[in-house]
Amino acid sequence: MNSFRVDLRSDTVTKPSAAMRRAMAEAEVGDDWFGDDPTVNRLQERAAEITGKEAAVFVPSGTMANQIALRLHFTGTGHLVVAEPQSHVASTEVMSSAVLSGIAYKTVPGDGRGRITADQVSFALEPDEPYDVEIADLVCLENTSGHAGGTVMDVEDFRAIRKVADEAGVAVHLDGARIFNASAASGVDVAEYATEADTLMFCVSKGLGAPIGSLVCGSAEQMREGRRIKILFGGAWRQAGVLAAAGLIALEEGPGRLHEDHERARRLGAAVAEIVPGSLDPGSVETNMVFADAEALGMAPLEATDRLEEQGVGASVVSGKVRMVTHIDITDEDVETAIAAWRALAAG
Ligand SMILES: Cc1ncc(COP(=O)(O)O)c(C=O)c1O
Repeated sequence: MNSFRVDLRSDTVTKPSAAMRRAMAEAEVGDDWFGDDPTVNRLQERAAEITGKEAAVFVPSGTMANQIALRLHFTGTGHLVVAEPQSHVASTEVMSSAVLSGIAYKTVPGDGRGRITADQVSFALEPDEPYDVEIADLVCLENTSGHAGGTVMDVEDFRAIRKVADEAGVAVHLDGARIFNASAASGVDVAEYATEADTLMFCVSKGLGAPIGSLVCGSAEQMREGRRIKILFGGAWRQAGVLAAAGLIALEEGPGRLHEDHERARRLGAAVAEIVPGSLDPGSVETNMVFADAEALGMAPLEATDRLEEQGVGASVVSGKVRMVTHIDITDEDVETAIAAWRALAAG
């Protein structure tokens, strides 16, 4: 049990709202293995509708959603997925990809903020004749970037990458764990991003506030195979409608309030930048994440998070920086508490 008064470690720490708990208690359920759970089916239909895809499959985690999509697109063990090195699939999930599907990655450096360009992808997809060893089956993009600043991908860059992938005959998967944050920040509809990807996944947990669950979306045929892989990966839950009920509320009520999280993150980022000069560029805060460099305080990032923790403020160390993430359970007062904790940290 943590002792945080203000938990900024991640947007995965949110608790279900009273309305979600009520809906969960009252959810109509059935056995999802048989496709019988009406609440799961409603959530899947809603996800397909929002993303403009033919079908969706509700699964326990973002990792499982990504791994199902990767497996779907993958044709050969030892083949490669082109991705940015800090992306979740190529960093945190790299072992899952290797163990579950024999997948390896061909990473391209990007801009250091989680974004790769069409030129880089084009270069990575060039055939390596005469050896034919490096065969890429897939390009995997992430929007927003969870480990490189919560940054938003420009939809035009997305289109350019899709074009290059199409020319090479390679599919595109979008890790859209936080695609609704991207949409709230950019004003670009979720379906507009989705149309540039063959498959995408998004989480109803994280920013949207549901306790559990993600959706992998694609064509009807892909999702038929996706359901099969879900069972293969041990994800065939049964009366999952109790969770889908919270997911439906998250989808209805979550997206419209994300700008509040972004505004609080901006305020926190601007204050930390002022308190600790050189720790971050306030303009780098694009969505709900603040990444601060503890070196500007002469501290290791873990020392900084320990010292924040002593004051009841939870933060995590991601990509060598102190990461703080605003979410549905963070209030204006919580932001002030976190700012006061940084002031105390800087005062020594
Ligand atoms: C960008 C991104 N993709 C995928 C995931 C995996 O989601 P989960 O923790 O639900 O497995 C995360 C988790 O934080 C993430 O940040």
